Amino acid sequence: FSVDWDAAAAEKGGFASFMAKEIHDQPAAVADTLLGRADAEGRLTLDELRIDPEKLKGISKIIVLACGTSAYAGSVAKYAIESWCRIPVEVELSHEFRYREPIVDENTLIVSISQSGETMDTLMAVRYAKEQGAKTLSICNTNGSTIPRESDAVLYTHAGPEIAVASTKAFLAQITATYVLGLYLGHLRGNLFTGQIKDILADLGKIPAKIQDILDREDEIKELARSMSEEQSVLFLGRHVGYPVAMEGALKLKEIAYIHAEGFAAGELKHGPIALIDDGQPVFVVVPSPRGRDSLHAKVVSNIQEVRARGAKTLVIAEEGDEDVQRYAEFVFYVPETPTLLMPLLATVPLQIFACELATAKGFDVDQPRNLAKSVTVE
Ligand code: G6P
Repeated sequence: FSVDWDAAAAEKGGFASFMAKEIHDQPAAVADTLLGRADAEGRLTLDELRIDPEKLKGISKIIVLACGTSAYAGSVAKYAIESWCRIPVEVELSHEFRYREPIVDENTLIVSISQSGETMDTLMAVRYAKEQGAKTLSICNTNGSTIPRESDAVLYTHAGPEIAVASTKAFLAQITATYVLGLYLGHLRGNLFTGQIKDILADLGKIPAKIQDILDREDEIKELARSMSEEQSVLFLGRHVGYPVAMEGALKLKEIAYIHAEGFAAGELKHGPIALIDDGQPVFVVVPSPRGRDSLHAKVVSNIQEVRARGAKTLVIAEEGDEDVQRYAEFVFYVPETPTLLMPLLATVPLQIFACELATAKGFDVDQPRNLAKSVTVE
């Protein structure tokens, strides 16, 4: 009598890869990162705060430092924190920051974002900023790792250990943590009223179920991915918070499927990337909500038309109910409605599923892509 027992498969919770499992862990990663952050009055807490809140109130700018996927979480954070706190936010790759002469002082808050808390470039950038007198806050997924230990304040993401080299659930948890930070600072500085904070937290609270809704429909995107395993190049366009989503979608495809992929700000299309479009070129377009106050939706829909007129195969990620996009799209995947600033928590998920399924279809080891390491502790 024998039982087939595959320990590796059990660890992956029945999924074909850790990455697939971690994509499915995302409702919990977001929910757990939000858990216990706010009291009944909408007051938020950080995990560790070795800065006088009065001093934090007085900061004049924020610089987000990170590498890889974590840097795209920082790019999303810029939109939310500037909107909620009215503090200028710069986002910079840690390795670029260290080697110029950045202007930082005691009124600068450095927000580092690192899943591992050990990325050498980010650690060295944080140390440099600290020496210049800046205050440092770490958003990190690994308790007790070096970067949070050396920072003045810490906000942990509760994604749980991430095994696959390409980051998925840590990314969503990082974005969630930057929203918590934005609400915390907005409250501290008197930019946001308690009622507004409660409303945004309520919208955030609905995100895990909306991610689950996307996961329940993953076969739509998996089928598309399998049909595209022979593609040589895929482009991604996005605007506003959809721009970092497009960049992250392209990064995932490069990392694990080894397909040439580029993300662009949709507004840049006419300044260069449109020259790349010819017959059959696949282009993912992340479309902003049609309920947004400005005309961004119309602009991005016209970008879809522009690339399609030149032969592109248009693959659209849009909000439920957005029927305008259907006429111009070969393929549409709908994500549930949510306020625009929170949209990356939803729109990223189908692009992760796409890359994971496509790489799996090509027979690659999605968890251990060639030439890459989970944590880069060298320069
Ligand atoms: C490596 C990993 C990426 C990750 C980046 C930053 O390149 O392969 O998935 O985004 O490092 O890592 P960190 O731990 O600082 O978030």
